[in-house]
Amino acid sequence: MSSNHNIALTFLVLLILLSGCGGQSFQQGQILYQNFCANCHMDDGTGLAGNIPPLVGSSLVRTQQERIPCIIRYGQEGPIEVNGQVFNNPMAAIPQLSDIEITNIINYINHSWGNDFGYVKFEAVREALKRCEK
Ligand code: HEC
Repeated sequence: MSSNHNIALTFLVLLILLSGCGGQSFQQGQILYQNFCANCHMDDGTGLAGNIPPLVGSSLVRTQQERIPCIIRYGQEGPIEVNGQVFNNPMAAIPQLSDIEITNIINYINHSWGNDFGYVKFEAVREALKRCEK
């Protein structure tokens, strides 16, 4: 094999290693966010003043992680407080997202737009969903 081939092979292996599990999950979360959430919460997570609460810097997302899987799957109705502001517009359920897709969306939100809210595990999301199962 020529050394050029060796270099190409090394790059290929590196590429495969770098695009491993974590990156793909994040990317799936981003795509799903854009398809299922961004039309209300906006591409940059800022929501819509007075009507749709923000996800960027959200006190609820930061402190009530176990609530988010249930909000996504079953929707959210009734007054909800985010960063000291009360919102009261129903969010429709999004039942077609699987447990793993919900995990990836939450991890995307947790690490986007300056959010640094940690990683949520698939098992934790599954447990949370079991508790609010309808
Ligand atoms: C049709 C518009 C709409 C869509 C689509 C939507 N939401 Fe919401 N979302 C809302 C509204 C409105 C509320 C406030 C509910 C209330 O007032 O009780 C909310 C509340 C929330 C909250 C809790 C409050 C906060 O901002 O921290 C989270 C978390 C959330 N949504 C995440 C998501 C995610 C993730 C998606 C996509 C999977 C999504 N939403 C899709 C409208 C929407």
